[in-house]
Amino acid sequence: MDNFTFCTPTRYTFGRGAEDKVGEIAASLGFRHPLIVYGQGSAVRSGLLDRVVKSLQDKDIECSRLGGVKPNPEDDLVIRGIEMCRENVEIDSLLAVGGGSVIDTAKAIAAGACYDGDFWDFFCGKAKVEKALPIGVVLTIPAAGSEGSGNSVITKREGQVKISIRTDYWLRPKFALLDPELTFTLPAYQSAAGIVDMMAHIMERYFSPTEDVEVTDRLSEGLLLAIINEAPKVIARPDDYQARANIMWSGTLAHNGICGCGRAEDWSSHALEHELSALYGVTHGAGLAVVFPAWMTYMADHRPQKIAQFARRVMGVDLADDRAAALEGISRLKAFFTSIGMPVTLAQLGVSDPDIPSLVTRLHAHKGDPLGVYLPLSPSATTAIYRLML
Ligand code: NZQ
Ligand code: ZN
Repeated sequence: MDNFTFCTPTRYTFGRGAEDKVGEIAASLGFRHPLIVYGQGSAVRSGLLDRVVKSLQDKDIECSRLGGVKPNPEDDLVIRGIEMCRENVEIDSLLAVGGGSVIDTAKAIAAGACYDGDFWDFFCGKAKVEKALPIGVVLTIPAAGSEGSGNSVITKREGQVKISIRTDYWLRPKFALLDPELTFTLPAYQSAAGIVDMMAHIMERYFSPTEDVEVTDRLSEGLLLAIINEAPKVIARPDDYQARANIMWSGTLAHNGICGCGRAEDWSSHALEHELSALYGVTHGAGLAVVFPAWMTYMADHRPQKIAQFARRVMGVDLADDRAAALEGISRLKAFFTSIGMPVTLAQLGVSDPDIPSLVTRLHAHKGDPLGVYLPLSPSATTAIYRLML
């Protein structure tokens, strides 16, 4: 096990009606005038936004609003939000009402508002986030885990470059309100994509070259087993409160860092997927359902040990040979993804004619060469992995 620091400063409030406490919690943490960031309409249609504003007003908290964040969020709304913070000096915090795209936009605004240069400097590696406005979250979709992570993922419209940044502290929300009932309205496809994304967040950490991390391994396997057990229930019955609750909490634990303690993390599958969502606009979790089995299939031939452990402990495979066990585990994982309505090939994802050379060139230009740590990948390896998705 490696040395590690684990910092989760976020105060989580979980359960029915959690969002109605937003005024009380924001006031207790010193939020006086948040900029509320939200998406393309679900929070307005459900009446959630009005309830959030009322709860804030009840505690004499003013607010400004910035709506219209799209999935795979782009830099234009981040720039607009930073301008709003500069024009109105009363704005002292961000409140994201939505999912990963909304939260990540709020995080980029929070960092950019405290920085004199172009916020993209953080994403292209020219500057480090060393200050940010405090961020609160009302979560409406369990998926990206941004409510507990220190990450933000933004696409620069010019050149369609999608980049993820990671901070240990500054971009972690101060509070997150998680009410499983808010997720009843999610379409099945979004629920399933969220489920794949949270599994991927665990697996990126699980498929690690670091040995002797039994506690973190067992935590990860337990979470994966719980997700696989609960997932079909939320797809079959969107208003199954207990299943929604289990999935929602899994999404947070998958990505708040606890599954990475004591080991190196890989993240190649996310890098491979971010190029797909940047170029073809696919839903992040659906893209991962195609990418992860292909990455694992490549590993079955080149470094099968941990894939075989996953196959045995999570997918219930009982085969002695590592490669055979790994391949059977991958086949069961794909069957699970298919059973919840997720694609497992690029064609099923709607990308019928992928430009693999361009994907590979962009991937290594943005994420480095070699890529990942479980088995560092050269451009010829990533080309082979994209081909396995066909
Ligand atoms: O825009 P609205 O109308 O709100 O609709 C959204 C959106 O169309 C809808 N939705 C959300 N809650 C709903 C709902 N519809 C009905 N009822 C509800 N309760 O769902 C759609 C998807 O929302 P989005 O925020 O895009 O989903 P998600 O949470 O999956 O976020 C995806 C983004 O997060 C990034 C991804 O790359 C992608 O850009 N990620 C962020 C991470 C992080 N910050 O730590 C880590 C992840 O690996 C990921 O890369
Ligand atoms: Zn993800």
